[in-house]
Amino acid sequence: MLIPVILSGGAGTRLWPVSREAHPKPFMKLADGQSLLQKTFLRAAGLPGVREILTITNREYYFKSKDEYEATEVQTAARPTFLLEPVGRNTAPAIALGAMKIAAEHGPDALMLVLSADHLIDNLDSFSSAVDAACLSAKGGTLATFGIVPTGPETGFGYIECGDEVEPSSPVRRVSRFVEKPTQDVAREYLATGRYLWNSGMFCFKAGVILQELAVHAPLLHQAALACWEATQERSGPKDGMTDIDSATFAHVPDISIDYAIMERSDNVVVVPGDFSWSDIGSWGAVSDLVRPDEAGNRVVGEAILVDTENTYIQSENRLVAAVGLEHLIIVDTPDALLVANRDRVQDVKKVVEQLKLQA
Ligand code: GDD
Ligand code: MG
Repeated sequence: MLIPVILSGGAGTRLWPVSREAHPKPFMKLADGQSLLQKTFLRAAGLPGVREILTITNREYYFKSKDEYEATEVQTAARPTFLLEPVGRNTAPAIALGAMKIAAEHGPDALMLVLSADHLIDNLDSFSSAVDAACLSAKGGTLATFGIVPTGPETGFGYIECGDEVEPSSPVRRVSRFVEKPTQDVAREYLATGRYLWNSGMFCFKAGVILQELAVHAPLLHQAALACWEATQERSGPKDGMTDIDSATFAHVPDISIDYAIMERSDNVVVVPGDFSWSDIGSWGAVSDLVRPDEAGNRVVGEAILVDTENTYIQSENRLVAAVGLEHLIIVDTPDALLVANRDRVQDVKKVVEQLKLQA
């Protein structure tokens, strides 16, 4: 049994001021009117044999997420279920609790396909073939990642060093090293070797296997998550496909991503090279790339007047933006906040949010 697990609890701070706690990135609508979350749900529902799709997100986004799924009006046999967090503790706690729920309901051999709610993927047939290869490997007890051929020394991704083929003629390779978000210099060195792929942020493993890995590599987290799962079960059984995580015990689960907690540490990781087109809509650079540029390399969403301006992205909700003599900028205007950033510094937009939190 394969259960896609959609992680959609991250605030997406690099897309401030559009992505915020009240309106996080998965709900961002793209030009075709569909949100990233809807696209992720449809991608999961399109996989063969899927009967349930588990979404792990913040309590506050429960009704909105449900509405979004209903609004897709897709005829699917896949029942949406929810595991709701009181606060975000990053991806490792979310995956740990998800694995405990799935193991309790479907047994430890049930396969989880962890999907991020902030990706765009074209070519669903080759995505589906990659998922098949990952499932096959995960059935044998591995942690399967999906690798993407890197296009530059991005610092926002995990880097996977490919080792030997798992079996002759299999596309699946052992992972000799996994490095989460290296510095740009290190990323450049990796690219030069030609042996590295980007981690797409999707994973496939048995619920029981990821729980064992957590017990070995992140024992405190595993223990705290187990206490939280027990408290959650005692407090309330699942209602209408929805399980509300116990707040008091969840507060004790360490805040860490699955990449740092497990993928960097385990020697049980394999990679399926993905030949589908993939993008992480993680920064304004990626959002800007979705818009067709004019001859001067400018991209505009909303209304703008440009004079002697080049290679600049402007997005405005309801005001006219005028730019004179600018180059290489990202400008995002919303009713209560304006972002003006150098294109090369889009990863640092999260620092604005850190400062705002300090002031709050
Ligand atoms: N439920 C829940 N709770 N979901 C979360 C939480 C949380 O506390 N934190 C993050 N998420 C969700 C995000 O909404 C997103 O869909 C997914 O988990 C991944 O989190 P990101 O915060 O977007 O991770 P990242 O992009 O910095 O890094 C990951 O993805 C990259 C590719 O997109 C890593 O796996 C990298 O190695 C990878 O390259
Ligand atoms: Mg991301």
